[in-house]
Amino acid sequence: MIPLQKRRRPSSETEPDPDKYQPHLKKAKQQTTAFRLGNWQEYEGSCPVYKQPKELISYSIDHDRKVWFDNREMKYYYPPGLKNEKLDLNVGYERFLQRDESILEHIDTLLDALTEYKTRQSNNTIAESEVHADIITWRGIMTKILCTPYSRKDAWEFRATRYNDKIFIEEQSLKDKDVDSESERQKLMSYWGYRFETICTVSKAPHEINSHPENRKELVDRLNQSANTNVQYCVVVKTKLGDSTIIMGAEVDCCRDTKPNDPVRQPSNYIELKTSRVIETERQQLSFDRYKLLKFWAQSFLVGVPRVICGFRDDEGIVKSITEFKTMEIPRQVRRHENQTTWNPSVCLNFANQLLQWIRTNITVNSATTTYAIDFKYPFREIRLYCTDDSNVFLTQRFIRGRVQHEIGGERAH
Ligand code: A3P
Ligand code: MG
Repeated sequence: MIPLQKRRRPSSETEPDPDKYQPHLKKAKQQTTAFRLGNWQEYEGSCPVYKQPKELISYSIDHDRKVWFDNREMKYYYPPGLKNEKLDLNVGYERFLQRDESILEHIDTLLDALTEYKTRQSNNTIAESEVHADIITWRGIMTKILCTPYSRKDAWEFRATRYNDKIFIEEQSLKDKDVDSESERQKLMSYWGYRFETICTVSKAPHEINSHPENRKELVDRLNQSANTNVQYCVVVKTKLGDSTIIMGAEVDCCRDTKPNDPVRQPSNYIELKTSRVIETERQQLSFDRYKLLKFWAQSFLVGVPRVICGFRDDEGIVKSITEFKTMEIPRQVRRHENQTTWNPSVCLNFANQLLQWIRTNITVNSATTTYAIDFKYPFREIRLYCTDDSNVFLTQRFIRGRVQHEIGGERAH
């Protein structure tokens, strides 16, 4: 059994006050708007503009899920030696510490990071415009949107709120995605992904490890270490897709060498770590290029992570090889299959651009306590959007008030 770090839901996180119910919004609930999903070919054509993402702020979440607006949990890439060590991803499974996913964390840390960023700026007007975006969300949500033209049976459901003319979007967890229903094999394979991160990263910059022999102990210790998904390092980036400005929060696995002093002007040197089964046949290569590389590319491209490093493992969880992919070269690489369709980044970006514009047009009520549902479900022909009034309010009251706290959770907007 996996030891779960149980945490209690903060008592202040209560259901919305029924007295605050706004009867004039009730009508909106009945109206569902639909975006018809065309064949992927309908989204071909020239690529919309995608601005180089700029990092506004980074933050860390420690082993107690406490939030710190600094880089204390940022890891550095330091590859393990494949020759001397057997890289077994199963090691430490019985010690795996998993974040308690039954606690809804909404977009609390992203909102706190934006407030923190604003308070750090000397010029309020500039700061206000810098944290303004048409869409504010997690990178994972944007990844799902980008992949939708090619993942036509992967359901998703989001919640959205328009407040101060910014549209905040978070995930509404789907009931059939219950962690408890995951098979033991799926849980183990999910652990392999985290364990790969453990054996590929260190807490100090590589030059500090190499120049101080006492720091080399970490290189050996990590080979016996388990994973802890409570610990995260995240960035908040700003970009623009077509006509929509977007602010995204994203977890970053590690950094190569040192982080640039000026992340706004200097290119990022983050690395996304992945695992995948070793490729032995042409058919497996096609499947990897079609499905895995699409997700690898979308996830990293969105926030400007330039490299994806993938550990190829066998069915027993032993890493056999490690390959680096340059994010910007992935779309060219998947064209290697003659007469076989893979995917085209323009399709993903054109679709996402149109969908975001449609969301912006149809989310009309500008209120922190009005929520909309946006979903893509069976029979997967359209994306639906409808107002759910004041149920499932997710913005925090402290965000409205311009305050931050180190604990995730707390009062929702009212
Ligand atoms: P892999 O990426 O090697 O599959 P991420 O790569 O996004 O940083 O996520 C790290 C690891 O978390 C993944 O490793 C995988 O093991 C696990 N993971 C991420 N999303 C998951 C999901 N939806 N279901 C199960 N495991 C997931
Ligand atoms: Mg990863």
